[in-house]
Amino acid sequence: MRPLSVIAHRGASEDAPEHTLAAYRKAIEDGAHALECDVRLTADGHLVCVHDRRVNRVSNGRGAVSTLELSELATLDFGSWKDADEQPETEDPERASVLTLDRLLRLVREYADAGRPVELAIETKHPTRWAGQVEERLVELLAEHRLPTPVRVMSFSARSLHRVRAAAPHLPTVYLMQFLLPRYRDGRLPVGVGIAGPSVRIVRNHPEYVIHAQRAGHQVHVWTVDDPIDVELCARLGVDALITNRPQQVLSQLSDL
Ligand code: G3P
Ligand code: CA
Repeated sequence: MRPLSVIAHRGASEDAPEHTLAAYRKAIEDGAHALECDVRLTADGHLVCVHDRRVNRVSNGRGAVSTLELSELATLDFGSWKDADEQPETEDPERASVLTLDRLLRLVREYADAGRPVELAIETKHPTRWAGQVEERLVELLAEHRLPTPVRVMSFSARSLHRVRAAAPHLPTVYLMQFLLPRYRDGRLPVGVGIAGPSVRIVRNHPEYVIHAQRAGHQVHVWTVDDPIDVELCARLGVDALITNRPQQVLSQLSDL
């Protein structure tokens, strides 16, 4: 049986500023099996790893990612909000710079070439506004990089996943669900999607969902699982992967179960 896979949510984002190179490096060094990231398109067509529509929460800038060019994002500090209570002795640009998906793919390649393979789970954000451009650029970038390790694409939007599969039928897709819609209670997913991505709330309230989805032939990847009680629940239910902000602690807990 495949062991439960631990996916680092926005990197090791409990310890380092989310979506920075430092957070992803730490997740890999901590032993995470996979990395999760959100991608958004800049005004000049670059995919960057940012969760929110605006940069206000995680940087010293303001405004929507979609209205800013990469050169403008590159002038912002994406680390200090997290480090506010700490005074690092040396400045680490890997904790402070905006991360492009291109750079993250190169990081994954560097580790794979060094004998430390790690999988990637990429979530498309604002897919409606850009009417397919996020998915188009994503598929292009993945084709350019041809990573030797598995990559899958996640979204709350079935339409976004459909666009990805239309352009790249070989890419596995994960349908994210915040709440369990009645039509999916029996474990079915939107047509063509292979993996279920329920919130931990769904798994707490409907633990039987895990077995329904697996019986329907789908892996189950649960997010965001930080509480040790939820980790234990997911392990007991036999989910296939859990997505967490604290991969080191979760891996340690799982090794003791
Ligand atoms: O991994 C899925 C999870 O990241 C979805 O929620 O808001 O953190 O992107 P969010
Ligand atoms: Ca996400």
